[in-house]
Amino acid sequence: MRRAVVKGVGHYLPERVVPNAEFEKTLDTSDEWIKARSGIERRHFAAADETTSDLATHAAKAALAMAGMDGNDIDAIVLATSTADLTFPSAATMVQHNIGNTSGYAFDVQAVCAGFVYALSNANALIMSGQADRVMVIGAETFSRIMDWTDRSTCVLFGDGAGALILEAEEGNGDAADRGVLSTDLNSDGRYKDLLYVDGGVSTQNTGMLRMEGKEVFRHAVEKLAKTADTALEKVGLGPDDVTWVVPHQANIRIIQATAKKLGVEMERVVVTVQDHGNTSAASIPLALSTAVANGQIKQGDLVVTEAIGGGLAWGAVVIRW
Ligand code: UT7
Repeated sequence: MRRAVVKGVGHYLPERVVPNAEFEKTLDTSDEWIKARSGIERRHFAAADETTSDLATHAAKAALAMAGMDGNDIDAIVLATSTADLTFPSAATMVQHNIGNTSGYAFDVQAVCAGFVYALSNANALIMSGQADRVMVIGAETFSRIMDWTDRSTCVLFGDGAGALILEAEEGNGDAADRGVLSTDLNSDGRYKDLLYVDGGVSTQNTGMLRMEGKEVFRHAVEKLAKTADTALEKVGLGPDDVTWVVPHQANIRIIQATAKKLGVEMERVVVTVQDHGNTSAASIPLALSTAVANGQIKQGDLVVTEAIGGGLAWGAVVIRW
């Protein structure tokens, strides 16, 4: 059976680090409140002349280096973002150009904070169906561009960054011991579109800013994330005890802890980067994966479960044998 096996990961964070204390200068907020309610201590913001495809290109080159591949070795690039440089062409085609790829195809996926899980699931489908042998999956965002800097309930939560992962087709036995993507579970429910959205876009003629009913999103998040992770594991006959690492979307430490508890996985087996990155939307999972590989947490053979939820609402999970 064909499997999409991870060959490389990489990430990039913009140089500018913004600690919580910086918001105390302009907003009625505090380092204590932000830390206690979200777990975030700092985040990175892109420079004025730095775009989402710039961040993505750095991450893509790092992933290529780990995989020992050149740009033209890649058949397809699937880039998850809600903050592409331009309305079109896709940020993926910009990365394609930047890594010197002229033989493949590239496109963006937009599922907000669940974007990376959606992109990974689609990349896996391209490999499983034989439409590609090597796929680069990227999550990249510049959410600092869509913040309302007067809204303390949102602007302290988000950050910028990018992560990339390269999948390659390999033959497996078709069981849960195989390396590669073992299962995926995707969901969305547009009835909840008003809980988390940007109040502008091309068709409404303004860029818009992020708006969120934080408490409501929180309530949905814990329930839906635990369920989608459970469902993805069940699809391959596995359970929470089989999991080496949960790599959740990094939005809020309290959501991460409550979801882990509901799932029955202790925090020692959960990768947490939210304190350093903030919520980087579609970039948060590949940033966490790449960080965990770099610091020796995730190793070949580990069973990794990623789960994410965001605007839509859209949510999902992917089970990978590293
Ligand atoms: O990535 C996509 C998914 N997004 C998420 O998962 C985000 C989900 N939501 C959350 O993470 C949390 O709901 C927040 C971190 C956004 C908020 O935490 P909370 O515990 O739900 O707080 P809250 O919204 O109930 O606000 C509590 C109080 C309010 O004041 P009152 O009404 O009790 O007087 C807020 O006005 O905290 C106030 N508040 C703040 N205070 C200081 C809100 N933001 C701030 C702030 N600093 N930055």
